[in-house]
Amino acid sequence: MKIKKWVVREHVPGTPDVDRVYEKVVEDVAIDLAPEEMLLKTLYVSVDPYLQGIALDTPVGGHMGADSIMEVVEAGPRAAHRPGDLVQGFGGWQSHVISDGAPRLWQTGTFPMVFPAYRRLSRHWYDAAVPLETALSATGGPGMTAWATLTTFLTPRPGQTLVISGASGAVGTLAGQLARLAGVRVVGTTSSPAKAAYLTGLGFDAVVRYRHGDTAEEVGEALDRAVPDGVDLYFDNLGGAVTDAVFARLNVGSKVAVCWQWATQVGGEADGPRLLPHIMFPRTTVRGIFSLEWFTDANWQALHADLGERLRRDEVVCDHTLHHGFDAIPAAYGSLYHDRTANFGKVLVAL
Ligand SMILES: NC(=O)c1ccc[n+]([C@@H]2O[C@H](COP(=O)([O-])OP(=O)(O)OC[C@H]3O[C@@H](n4cnc5c(N)ncnc54)[C@H](OP(=O)(O)O)[C@@H]3O)[C@@H](O)[C@H]2O)c1
Repeated sequence: MKIKKWVVREHVPGTPDVDRVYEKVVEDVAIDLAPEEMLLKTLYVSVDPYLQGIALDTPVGGHMGADSIMEVVEAGPRAAHRPGDLVQGFGGWQSHVISDGAPRLWQTGTFPMVFPAYRRLSRHWYDAAVPLETALSATGGPGMTAWATLTTFLTPRPGQTLVISGASGAVGTLAGQLARLAGVRVVGTTSSPAKAAYLTGLGFDAVVRYRHGDTAEEVGEALDRAVPDGVDLYFDNLGGAVTDAVFARLNVGSKVAVCWQWATQVGGEADGPRLLPHIMFPRTTVRGIFSLEWFTDANWQALHADLGERLRRDEVVCDHTLHHGFDAIPAAYGSLYHDRTANFGKVLVAL
């Protein structure tokens, strides 16, 4: 059978130029499954900012990895899943996948990761209110990141102020809505007026707009208006000038969750103030977020019971920006960088 794949053609650091980095190949593959292997059909593919690092760590000619939702088409007698099962895993930018679905070590340039085993998606979890694609958003990685960061680390309490940078994305919108339900004052940062209105519509108490190239002083002036009493909790998806400004406004006993650092990891901004003095007097706790640590069966059940049910009751909204077709994958990914005003919530591709 023919399997379509997007492979890495060239390693290009910095903001991805998808036309240079990716190349489509079609392979003629004879399906001869080992006893533990499966042939899976890809239904949805996720595009995420961290894929920039994955592309750089993928050997040239290798297929591009990414989170996906797949349906098992054929399975060997000892395979973990049966034909017709729906699974979520790191299947990548491929129309079909041949895999045993076992955990896979990924030795990145910076830190080793283990992509978890493909997990079965119980069909009863999904319906019109909680559609299947949420397995890549609210009831998947982004949802787990938002929910577990709040429940296990930030533990928001009524009366506190939470700032979320890069708030208009899948993680930020979910974290903000959940924190509001916990009685917290939530302030998001975003770059466009339309997204600011979107966040206000989701219940954010205030929105700070920044533009590329803003200094920490400029962001700080806007923050002073939005958080006159300082910041108790900071959910950082961004880094850079926004983080520089927030650190100078941390309250006693504050907590900072470092989920991603766009500015440094993609933008290549290596300079800025030294931030550690800002955490000394407020006795701030800073924690790195590595959401894979929470990908356990018990946590997936708990996420469905909590966030999934809140979606069903319309207490929390999870929007998707859906692209269509295998050929659209690189452009959908590129839109995270080049067409940000068009993206609301989780960006996905339906195959
Ligand atoms: N540590 C972990 O375990 C973990 C787990 C999940 C996700 N993450 C990371 O956490 C971040 C949030 O995830 P997500 O799914 O919400 O991502 P997302 O949907 O892509 O949203 C990220 C937001 O960041 C802002 N942004 C994008 N490019 C930017 C740029 N060049 N400069 C400044 N801001 C930019 C955008 O908002 P504006 O257009 O408003 O600027 C965008 O809405 C991502 O970077 C993701 O990779 C980390």
